[in-house]
Order: sequence, then C-alpha cells, then structure tokens
Amino acid sequence: MTGGGDCPGLNAVIRAVTKTAISKYSMEVWGIEDGYQGLIEKRLRPLSYENASHILSIGGTILGSNNTTNPFKYPVRNKAGKVIFKNMSNSCIETLAQKKIDALVLIGGDGTMTSAAGFAKKGLTVIGVPKTIDNDLWGTDVTFGFDTAVTTAAEAIDKLRTTASSHHRVMVVEVMGRYAGWIALHSGVASGADVILIPEIPYRLEKICRFVQQRNNWGKSYSIIVVAEGAKELGGKMVVKKTYAYSPDPIRLGGIADKLAGQIEQATKLEVRSVTLGYIQRGGTPTPYDRVLATSFGYKAMELLVSGVKNRLVVLKNNKLSSVPLSQVAGRTRTVPVNSPLIKAARAVNTCFGD
Ligand code: F6P
Repeated sequence: MTGGGDCPGLNAVIRAVTKTAISKYSMEVWGIEDGYQGLIEKRLRPLSYENASHILSIGGTILGSNNTTNPFKYPVRNKAGKVIFKNMSNSCIETLAQKKIDALVLIGGDGTMTSAAGFAKKGLTVIGVPKTIDNDLWGTDVTFGFDTAVTTAAEAIDKLRTTASSHHRVMVVEVMGRYAGWIALHSGVASGADVILIPEIPYRLEKICRFVQQRNNWGKSYSIIVVAEGAKELGGKMVVKKTYAYSPDPIRLGGIADKLAGQIEQATKLEVRSVTLGYIQRGGTPTPYDRVLATSFGYKAMELLVSGVKNRLVVLKNNKLSSVPLSQVAGRTRTVPVNSPLIKAARAVNTCFGD
C-alpha cells in the first residue's frame, strides 16, 4: 500500500517488493488501492511480476494514494445526518484475513506510519517504508522522494534567477516541506539562494529587507529568497491555506511567498515577485538516487519480513540500511537542526536566514 501524499519513487518500491516476493520467495502479492481508503473499501488487487515491470522510473504510484483517511478515526454520517467517527481497524484486519494476507508493507510518511503502529499493536505484521518529499520522518536520515523534489526545486530556482536578474527583481520562491525546512534548505543551498527561510528559524521581516537592500547597495540588482511553506515570522504563525477537518493532519500550508513579497515590496520599494512551486515538486520521474534508495528500501522490507522481523520501519542511518520500531516513529517529526553543518556552511557563504 502507498499512503499519504505521493512522491517520486513509490513505484520503485512497489517493484522491488513485488519482484523480490515473487521471484525470490514465491509469495503472492496484493496491492491495496488508494491507501487506507482502499483498505476500508476492500479494494485490493493481485500484483503480478508483469504489473511491477517497467515502472521503476515512473513517478506517482500505480496503486493510487490518499492523505485524508485515518482508519482509526473514519468519518461517517449517522441516521440524523451528523458526522461521527468510526474505528475501522477491525474491519480492515478482517478484510486482510479473508484474503489470507500474512503481512503488510506500508509505504508512507508520518500519518501512514502512525496508523501502521496502531495496526501493529492490534497484532498485524507490518513493515513500513519511509517516503515523503518533506524528508521529515523520524528515525531515518533520508526518505525517498526528497532528492527528486530538491532537484526539481533547484532547477526551477536556477530558471527564476535569470528572469529575476533581467528585471532587477526580488524573487520569492515558496517550496513545500510542511513543518520542516529540508526542501528549502537543500534547494536553496544548491541554487545559491541569497535568503533561505525555514520553519526551524523564525525570521524578522526587517532583517530580510535590510539584507536585500544591502545587496542592492553592493550593486547586486536582484535577490532570490527561498521560503519553506511552513516558515514564520518571529512571534508569528504559519500561513494556512486550507484545512481538511477529517484528515490525519487537517492543515494545508501555503501563501507565505505572496505575503512576504507584498511586505518586502512595501518596505523596500524594490520590485518583488512571488512563485509557489507546488505539486511539481511531487511529480515526475525519480532521480537515480531515489530509484536506488527506493529499491534498497523495498528489498530490505522483504528481507526483514522473511527473517521474522515485524512492526518496524526500514531506515537509512549513517548510510546503512537498518530498521526502528514503528511505535517510536508514530506521531513524531524530524526537523532541521538549527546548528546543522549545512546551515553553518550556508551562513559562511553569506546566506541570510532572516534571524
Ligand atoms: O507531505 C507532502 C506534501 O506535499 C507537503 O509538502 C505539503 O504540505 C502537503 O503534502 C500538501 O498536501 P496536499 O496534497 O493534501 O495538498
């Protein structure tokens, strides 16, 4: 099953799990459609070796995904038309038992893993595989999908640099990442951004304005500001675009680039534009790094299951594949350490973090 927001490399994991299971261990493999929603609605289908062929480099997921369904808190309407929450986990377990399914490989981020830990507690055999462009899953140094998102964002920022330079503008580029600044930090450093704003380091508007103004005084007629969607002003709040009441995480962030662009233009009288990169960061073909990581994770998941290990998340720690208990991962987020070597390196080349 692939759960949560999609990301490049999901198909590479499906391929690795399915091919290893069928050709190395003569197992039968089933795919669950559209994440936990498909499990609740009993939408499962057999996966053959052929189904898993020619999908390594294709973005998205052949199984479909969903980031709004929580099987432990599923909204249904009662007879009076009022929304009440039902725990669907026993019904999901029954569906799997009917199909004689012995183990689940759940490919997802923190929402998927929190429910995975719940299923493990109820006796199911579960192995998690860490995906997300946000790179914010606790327990692993890296998730697959992140490298592709950073590559896409850095390429886009390179393009924005030439137009910003032609027009002597300040360009504010918003990238995804939820409550963590990994994508902003890495794409910003990779593209030589002048200012990088991340949720872990609350910014001061006047610092940013002074910095871009100073660049102008030095004869740099344009500036690139990369801002994580979760960045916030010191003492301020993240900019929320929408809320989905029944989603495991109801909040959808977005809008900080537009807000900042207006504020900087007003304060500096420079010409400022904003761009939100959005879903292109989640789409497209995975980078070779993500294909390799996804294949390694999928293979490791199968090796753990076959050796009798269960209820763990496959992780990459210090460049080595290993695993951690799902119970430790549930409900936690891995954010950027504010004194990380990359932040120190960026500061050394005069990147402003707005603090
Ligand atoms: O977790 C991946 C992610 O793309 C985040 O970076 C972003 O905040 C969120 O999903 C967007 O969610 P949705 O697909 O529901 O708009």
